[in-house]
Order: sequence, then C-alpha cells, then structure tokens
Amino acid sequence: MPTTPVSRPRRYLVCEPRYFDVQYAINPWMSQNTQVDLTLARAQWKTLIRAYRDHGHTVDSVEPVPGLPDMVFAANAALVVNGRVFGSRFHASQRRPESTAYETWFKAAGYDLHRPESVCEGEGDLVPVGRFILAGTGFRTTRAAHDEVQEFFGVPTIGLRLVDPHFYHLDTALFVLGGENIAYYPQAFSPGSREVLRCLYPQAIVASRDDAMAFGLNSVSDGRHVFVAPQATGLIDQLAEHGYVPVPVDLSEFHKAGGGIKCCTQEIRP
Ligand code: ARG
Repeated sequence: MPTTPVSRPRRYLVCEPRYFDVQYAINPWMSQNTQVDLTLARAQWKTLIRAYRDHGHTVDSVEPVPGLPDMVFAANAALVVNGRVFGSRFHASQRRPESTAYETWFKAAGYDLHRPESVCEGEGDLVPVGRFILAGTGFRTTRAAHDEVQEFFGVPTIGLRLVDPHFYHLDTALFVLGGENIAYYPQAFSPGSREVLRCLYPQAIVASRDDAMAFGLNSVSDGRHVFVAPQATGLIDQLAEHGYVPVPVDLSEFHKAGGGIKCCTQEIRP
C-alpha cells in the first residue's frame, strides 16, 4: 500500500471571469459560433474558488480587464517559484495585453517580474515538479523560452514536445499529483518525450484519451485533494485507488475556450 498523500496549503492567483467569452479561435476547442452562458460560467468559477478556500488554500484575485476574454486563465500569465516571477509573452496577439495586466498585480503585491523575450505562456507550459521544471513546446511556449526559464531559475528544465492540438498546453496533458509524481496522457507527447516521462515517472498515473479530452489532466492537486473535472470518471477512480481525494468541480463553460481548472489557477510558490 503506498503512503497516504498529504496536503499542503497553497496560495493561488485567479481572475474572475467577468468578461469571459469565446470571441476568437486559437485552439481546437474554440469556435467563434459558441455561445457562452456567462451566468453559469461565473457560478462554476465561484464553486472552484469556494472549493479551494474550503480546503484551506489562500486565493488572491487579479482585477479582470474588459476586452480580454481569456484573462480568466491565470495559469498562462506567469510561473512563480521561490517567490520569483517569470512572466509571460503570449503566442496569440489577442492575449498579449494580459501580460501587462498581471505584471501590474505582481508589482503591486511587491514582486519583481521578469518579462521573457520568447513566447512563453506561464504555467500553461511550465510545470515545476520535484527538482525539475517540465516545459511544454510545440504549440505555444518555445524552446528558446525553456532556455530562458532554466537560466532564470537555475532549475533543470526538461523540454517536452506536444503533438496533438487538443493538448496545446502542457497543463492540458499532465499535472503534478504531489511530491515527485505526475498524472499524464502519453499520446499528447512525441515518442521521445513520452519515453522521457516514462523513465522519469515510472509510478505516474496514466490517463485515457477520454479522461484527457474531458480536461481531467487540467487538474490542481494540493498533494492530497485533487480538484478535477467530474467528466473524467476513469481518472477519478484511478486517483481514489492511489489514495488521493478527488474533489470534482465542473468548469464545462470554460471547456468551450479550451480551459479547465488548472488553466484558471496560478500557484504562487513562496
Ligand atoms: N483560450 C485560451 C487559449 O487558447 C485557453 C487557455 C487555457 N489555459 C491553459 N493553461 N491551458 O490560450
């Protein structure tokens, strides 16, 4: 029997979906004809925030900006490790102004923020786990940005190539369970990157395509509780079998923009 997973209180940065909408299509989940139910979206988002607080986590909020319908996806704005902030440079022109809006929040909160020179979408593609930072590329964040990340943090940064446009950000295909272990969907990665993950994480939870397509890997774990899409039923069973406590939170309105729980959540690591 594996040891019981233990939770650790986290600090999360989020952005209320006041102006959330699908107005352009920059990933396969988005379609300009989609209607978003904003009342439902706001209610779903509030349920997520309540779930974080109910489990002992601190939640800070960035003021949303009109005209930035994807700003709710806070994960993309930065990576924060040891209180040091590596900001963002978005691939899509529509999202570029978000970097400054988040930078303003970080500065007011007393942080310096490093602006990357290359396209880099924060925790969407950068996932710290144990002694490494896993770094996605293929659709958004570039290899050159991985190099900048490694120089900035001095942490070995392992590039992983994403190959399926449904999983255009690393955080749609992989999440950290806690400690040094992950859950992921191998087919989202190139053969070489799959092999790297297999050898680094022999104990990983391997998810099915159905669970990955249900945004199951866009989850947030505090080490014990896993805030997970309720649609990812197989993954929920796997998590429970491994001793984790699944906390289902439905963000279905955000799936229309290609985002889920993790996309809405940035972790500020002190
Ligand atoms: N519509 C947004 C985009 O395509 C969704 C971002 C989702 N965020 C994430 N961390 N995967 O950029």
